[in-house]
Amino acid sequence: MTEREEVKIEKLQKLDQSTLERLVEIYMRGYEGMREYGGEGESYAKRYLHWCWGKARDGFFVAKVGDEIAGFIVCDNDWYSKYEGRTVGAIHEFVVDKKFQGKGIGHKLMKKCLEYLSGKDIELWVGEKNERAKRFYEEYGFREVGKHGIWVRMVRRKR
Ligand SMILES: CC(C)(COP(=O)(O)OP(=O)(O)OC[C@H]1O[C@@H](n2cnc3c(N)ncnc32)[C@H](O)[C@@H]1OP(=O)(O)O)[C@@H](O)C(=O)NCCC(=O)NCCS
Repeated sequence: MTEREEVKIEKLQKLDQSTLERLVEIYMRGYEGMREYGGEGESYAKRYLHWCWGKARDGFFVAKVGDEIAGFIVCDNDWYSKYEGRTVGAIHEFVVDKKFQGKGIGHKLMKKCLEYLSGKDIELWVGEKNERAKRFYEEYGFREVGKHGIWVRMVRRKR
């Protein structure tokens, strides 16, 4: 990715086979070295991404560098949180391909997500040892509110 290459954030239009395969690749690579948080491999990833698409397709945003998908975020505006006891916003998945990480793409995706979920509390779960992601979320006002096994629950209160 050159300095001048533009990053576009778009709503995913359809989850066809080649897109799904690219998203799985990003997911697998994004979580490299953090296997405990990235699920049980490709078939898990495929099922999970299908579930995300079914549950939250209006908030399924991809970052594109040229024609290549570099990362994605899945934002749900209608998530029943059993921990909050009510419907909130949620981030179900957020990952940038390893080769594109650290270039500001995550910030662009998060900005889009916060626009989409504006006016809502937002819940997410992050691996307890995933310090970089936790710091990233804290910058946006997410706070740790609980823990379940290896997962930490973070919430950003509406403002
Ligand atoms: C969390 C994640 C989505 C952020 O995306 P990103 O495109 O790397 O994020 P950005 O480049 O916009 O910002 C990353 C921040 O980490 C810093 N950083 C430092 N070294 C970095 C590196 N090697 N890679 C990525 N980020 C790095 C960046 O400087 C930036 O800091 P800032 O917030 O002070 O500006 C991405 O790292 C990722 O996919 N991680 C693996 C999957 C994951 O953990 N997802 C969240 C689980 S809930």
